[in-house]
Amino acid sequence: MTLAVEAKNLSYTYQEGTRALDRVDFFAATGEFVAMLASNGSGKTTLIKVLIGLFNPDQGTVHINGRNIRKIPKKELYQSVGLVLQNPVDQLFASTVEEDVAYGVRHLGLTEAEVQQRVTEALESVAASELRHRAIHHLSFGEQKRVSVAGIMAMRPATLILDEPTAGLDPAGEALMMRLLHKLNKEHGVTIILATHSVDLLPLFADRIYVLRHGAVLKQGPAEEIFCDHEMISLAGLRLPYIASLLHKMKEYDGVPINGLPLTIGEARLRLLELIPESLIIKPH
Ligand SMILES: Nc1ncnc2c1ncn2[C@@H]1O[C@H](COP(=O)(O)OP(=O)(O)OP(=O)(O)O)[C@@H](O)[C@H]1O
Ligand SMILES: [Mg+2]
Repeated sequence: MTLAVEAKNLSYTYQEGTRALDRVDFFAATGEFVAMLASNGSGKTTLIKVLIGLFNPDQGTVHINGRNIRKIPKKELYQSVGLVLQNPVDQLFASTVEEDVAYGVRHLGLTEAEVQQRVTEALESVAASELRHRAIHHLSFGEQKRVSVAGIMAMRPATLILDEPTAGLDPAGEALMMRLLHKLNKEHGVTIILATHSVDLLPLFADRIYVLRHGAVLKQGPAEEIFCDHEMISLAGLRLPYIASLLHKMKEYDGVPINGLPLTIGEARLRLLELIPESLIIKPH
């Protein structure tokens, strides 16, 4: 297993004294989809900024593809790791979508045809081709979010780090963003690291989840391990996916003999079907 990002024993204190990270160990294997799930003020954004080298930790180390981040020239670093900020306005500054997505790519010494090709592919990858000639300031918030991801994707980073990419999106936009990231991960092999509050969608997409509290890692592991630890979830100020919460209550309070703890609607459907006699199921023709 090769590691796209590996951080050991990271601590970070802001100038006025807030210790935002406390001895954090974190890794993302190449090609993995890793999520940080934590309540507000737990240190997600700070961790992201340390992982990408924007902040120097008080202690600890960050390695990108096995190399110490301090030894990687900035230009090379930003080509291999892309950062999508929480607020797209902080990231979009050209007047049209096409110019904005092309902005970073133009510094790579490519021909104009290659630049245009990259813009086309990046916009396609976030389902935003039709926005190409639109003015940035006319885009909706959800469209801005997708275009900000395209601008980073055009650089073709092997690793993409996103700070709350689904925050502020409507349910369809949230699902679309997660599906796009899933596709980038599975079809293009991009390592994805994201901070999110999308508890209900995470079990569908994340290989592993980190739960943070007060700047420290409370627990990390696959969704099944994270969400069966109810005490930890409540300590972190989080909740189970709604479907898991419903089935957990049916099990605990009503004695319904459901196998395991389904985390998605698909799993829940299968577990509930197991309990219904075949004769009662009316199959559509
Ligand atoms: N620039 C700053 N100066 C001082 N303290 C800060 C600064 N930025 C963040 N903090 C503090 O560091 C801690 C972690 O903040 P951080 O922004 O990393 O949390 P977060 O998990 O990203 O929260 P959110 O979900 O609200 O985005 C908080 O206590 C916050 O108040
Ligand atoms: Mg944050």
